[in-house]
Amino acid sequence: MLAQRLLRQVLLSRGTAVRLGSSLAASGDAAAVEQPAKSSPSRTRPKSWKVDGLVVKPDERWNLTPSVMALLERHLHAKPGNPLNLIKQRIVNHFHKTYRKAGNRSPLFTVCDREPRVVSLFDNFDSLLTPEDHVSRRPSDTYYVNADTCLRAHTSAHQHKLMRQGFDNFLVVGDVYRRDEIDRTHYPCFHQMEGVRLYSADELFGKASGEQFGLFASDDEKRTPQKQSELSEDASKVLEIKLKQTLEELCLALFGKGAQIRFVDAYFPFTHPSFEVEVFYEGKWLEVLGCGVMEQKILTSAGVTDKVGWAFGLGLERLAMVLYSIPDIRLFWSEDSGFLSQFADKQPEDNYKYVPISVHPQVYFDLSFWLPDRPSHEMSADVFDLIRSIGGNLVEQVSLVDEFTHKKTGRTSHCYRIVYRSVDRALTKEEVNVIHKQIEKTLVEQYDVQIR
Ligand code: PHE
Repeated sequence: MLAQRLLRQVLLSRGTAVRLGSSLAASGDAAAVEQPAKSSPSRTRPKSWKVDGLVVKPDERWNLTPSVMALLERHLHAKPGNPLNLIKQRIVNHFHKTYRKAGNRSPLFTVCDREPRVVSLFDNFDSLLTPEDHVSRRPSDTYYVNADTCLRAHTSAHQHKLMRQGFDNFLVVGDVYRRDEIDRTHYPCFHQMEGVRLYSADELFGKASGEQFGLFASDDEKRTPQKQSELSEDASKVLEIKLKQTLEELCLALFGKGAQIRFVDAYFPFTHPSFEVEVFYEGKWLEVLGCGVMEQKILTSAGVTDKVGWAFGLGLERLAMVLYSIPDIRLFWSEDSGFLSQFADKQPEDNYKYVPISVHPQVYFDLSFWLPDRPSHEMSADVFDLIRSIGGNLVEQVSLVDEFTHKKTGRTSHCYRIVYRSVDRALTKEEVNVIHKQIEKTLVEQYDVQIR
């Protein structure tokens, strides 16, 4: 019996070590995503491809790789307990609380987080006035499905359609795809939140002043670095102030008063004037979002003729890296429980700092025993404490994985899984076994349990 159990533990721990060891070695960090293998996209091109309820027909422009297609399956921002899901909810909660419709009955912003990720080139580029020769259109920058469609490269790809459908105030959340550089802060798939807010003259200037100030310029006004030719100076200035206020309040809600942020002039084809917001993080300014006064031509072509607006697009990974001190973008994709377990029980509003997990493999052992006839109420808490006091820093996680009461004897059994991992070296199963045995022995002595 004992020999069998030991054998099982050895096999268990060996299997874990091998699996984790290889993927960790490949990435050189604790992230579980391996670098995509070099492969020819043409060989992977399907005849027809179903994605998000759409069926598309790839042609010779297809440049998706199997690893990108695997990323499409992950839906990280919809996974409870993923830091991207937590930060998404935190931002949405902030907007819902701060901006309400007249009468305070309902939130102002509509949240759209299930838009299809394959979009037309019109939506991704043309509707947003992206010039024909803009770098973002190159096949080296964008994942093309065929001559008419691509993976969205930003959540701005949904602006035009949503405005056409009649939405005035909305947040769009989702995964976006770019054939970008790869480093600590760039990954072929990342997550954005788009915000758009449109205003009538009354909404922008207030009811009393709406008639006094106009939204639009006279025909002969010129485009200047400060404003578009179509907008009045007042409208452009007030929009810019409201946009900056909105983003400052958001950064305050996320990072607290101590955060340092700055607006930097920028260029986007779809906004003017345009800005980027940077947050000071670990000695450097990190760009976290782009924003600006929406080009009036986009509103007009979407059928909005009596309003003006602003838009922003923020990078959820960048914000989450700062908020939770996550050092590497690959960690968001990690399936290592050392990463996931740190966020599993967190609420969106919790402030939490990530504790770097070890790059060394986990070794896990199970601990099963019959409880004494009259167990204490805090049995689990006692067991956790005991394991921690004997295993010390080598114990990374402990969970009660099974609990049942025997029908005939009435005795209750507990099974705990203990994940051992050192921060500075690979543990051998033999040395872990010594600690594990010590835990079992102490449990028997102190709590009168019977090891199974
Ligand atoms: N779409 C831009 C990007 O991906 C961000 C942005 C959104 C800029 C909206 C301005 C307005 O970088």
